Amino acid sequence: MKLKTKDLLTLNELKKSELVEIIDNAIKLKRDLKKGISKPLLKNKTLAMIFQKPSTRTRVSFETGMFQLGGHALNLSADELQLKRGETIEDTSKTLSRYVDLIMARVYSHDEIELLAKNSSVPVMNGLSDSFHPCQTLADLMTIKEKKKKLAGLKLAWIGDGNNVCNSMIYGCAKTGIDISIATPKGYEPNLNVVKESSKLISVKLSNHPETAVQDVDVVVTDTFVSIHHQTTDRTNDFLPRFQVNSDLMKKANPSAIFMHCLPAKRGQEVTSEVIDGHQSVIWDEAENRLHAQKALMVALLRV
Ligand code: CP
Ligand code: NVA
Repeated sequence: MKLKTKDLLTLNELKKSELVEIIDNAIKLKRDLKKGISKPLLKNKTLAMIFQKPSTRTRVSFETGMFQLGGHALNLSADELQLKRGETIEDTSKTLSRYVDLIMARVYSHDEIELLAKNSSVPVMNGLSDSFHPCQTLADLMTIKEKKKKLAGLKLAWIGDGNNVCNSMIYGCAKTGIDISIATPKGYEPNLNVVKESSKLISVKLSNHPETAVQDVDVVVTDTFVSIHHQTTDRTNDFLPRFQVNSDLMKKANPSAIFMHCLPAKRGQEVTSEVIDGHQSVIWDEAENRLHAQKALMVALLRV
């Protein structure tokens, strides 16, 4: 596969056919791995991973994925790089691209990942910025496809904060033909340009009514009310109790609806333990699929 884009920063860079192919390849890589087949498709390739913020899933899934593909991953805390002492992102990016084949970065400001990508001669993947989380959406779409056996024609509800994960999810839904209804408190809507652009391809409904948003949907998704970049402000009171995904809310969705959450979760806030540990929850498959989806992404970006 030869992707049109060099980098993956939002998810909108992928053409519909490219996105579908990455998801299908991820499902194949997962199947192969379970059978004990692991081809060294990225033998001798090196991935640099820059983290400005903490991570469990992104770090471990990228590093393990690279290992399984025969490559190597370097974990670079931004605090331990010369970035901390004032070296610019531009110079850091130009330097790293002379050593490694791929860069993944988790940054505070989306501008920083754009700058990194602009100055890098190798592909750059966004491992979470304040505005987007495309790698999460790849894993989420893969999980939906596994569970529902299709993507186009499904309905998905996003409940809670219209945040970075939500923005990439809207793009993902638009590319794959999933209608999305988003219920947030006033002032917590997703990026309106993303909504506007995606509305040309699918139905994107914004409201302040979780009960209406989940009606007849196949997938219910939420995320923390307090993202890492909002940690200094207490926003929880704006969401509770109405925007919590609990059993009462899940009962209003399609009975076969699945529940998803990118994790980490704050149990008792955006979701109850009853729902996140309940029979409709697919969160552990979703977390696992970060590994397979990112392997497929790296293989696609390196055109192998
Ligand atoms: N979902 C996700 O990105 O998790 P981490 O913050 O643990 O990487
Ligand atoms: N919205 C969350 C996602 C964490 C994976 C955050 O930005 O902290």
